[in-house]
Amino acid sequence: MRVVSGIQPTGNLHLGNYLGAIRNWVRMQDEMEEGSQCLFFLADLHAISMPYDPAELKSATLEMTAALVACGIDPSRSVLFNQAQVPAHSELQWLLNGTARMGWLNRMTQWKDKAGKNREGQSVALFAYPVLQAADVLLYQATHVPVGEDQKQHLELARDIAQKFNNDFASDDAPVFTLPDPYIPPEAARIMSLRDGTAKMSKSDPSEMSRINLADDADTIMKKVKKAKTDPEPLPSEAAGLEGRAEALNLVSIYSAFTGKSVADVLGEFGGQGFGAFKPALGELLVESLAPISARFRELRQDREALDAILARGAAQARDIGTPTLNATYQALGLVRG
Ligand code: TYM
Repeated sequence: MRVVSGIQPTGNLHLGNYLGAIRNWVRMQDEMEEGSQCLFFLADLHAISMPYDPAELKSATLEMTAALVACGIDPSRSVLFNQAQVPAHSELQWLLNGTARMGWLNRMTQWKDKAGKNREGQSVALFAYPVLQAADVLLYQATHVPVGEDQKQHLELARDIAQKFNNDFASDDAPVFTLPDPYIPPEAARIMSLRDGTAKMSKSDPSEMSRINLADDADTIMKKVKKAKTDPEPLPSEAAGLEGRAEALNLVSIYSAFTGKSVADVLGEFGGQGFGAFKPALGELLVESLAPISARFRELRQDREALDAILARGAAQARDIGTPTLNATYQALGLVRG
């Protein structure tokens, strides 16, 4: 089993990232068997596909490293690194650009959402972004890729690219790439904005009130939960009663994800009660669950040297692990290299 996943180091780590992805990274790392390996990385190369500030990207990369370690990623058991220190990601992307089709990329919903009506004005990187994402996982022969629901389409594209490359350039008994499987948690795969139950919780939402950041202090968390958009009805006693109530479903799902109780059990407890009772309970649960993470984060983020060292060591390991696949790709394509 080879587990590979990444996160963009832009903005803060929020509840959607944590419940949709990072928590599963930690679980997979902790349950890893002998011979398996986990690689987790900061997708700093992906971050340059949208307008950004270089000085901020640098500090955000270190901060996100601290956040991942605070969540439980252990750099002595998992390979933790940033893409920019492993040139094989960019190299493999270029090699895969020959296999990826324009039509496939044109269908990506993230491209359509981010580009909006202004496709002509977007960077080539934003369009080619999913090919880099394919390179990220194919480079390491990933078998499992733990992500939130919003990354499913990108992972399907990675499989399509791998399949076409193997068909076009490798023999059936010696494929160059492994087809990666997305691992999307059955619960909490899509945490929604606290201001709009139809939009996903996202770092790029201009409203800070739309998301809970893992480093938010207790007062901020309570305030955001209390101000979260809801409807005037009390909570239903059964899950079917949440249909058509996106905001209520989102808050109950978050409660369920942190307690490990099913949605049905949460409603068994709170059904018939209004949000005046549920929101404080949810707020306290979040404060209690996130306190140890944010305390560790505040401590770790101070030590820039330690964070640099973690990334340097992880990158050296990642370069070694990726080398055979990169070499095999060049060879399969008939490219001459010294
Ligand atoms: P990014 O940085 O947007 O998000 C990191 C992870 O968090 C998940 N996520 C969510 N899950 C549930 N609810 C939400 N509201 C929510 N928001 C974010 C994402 O699904 C993701 O798993 N392109 C990727 C980064 C990437 C990557 C990769 C991932 C680059 N290369 C290779 C996997 C494999 C991204 O921008 O994720």
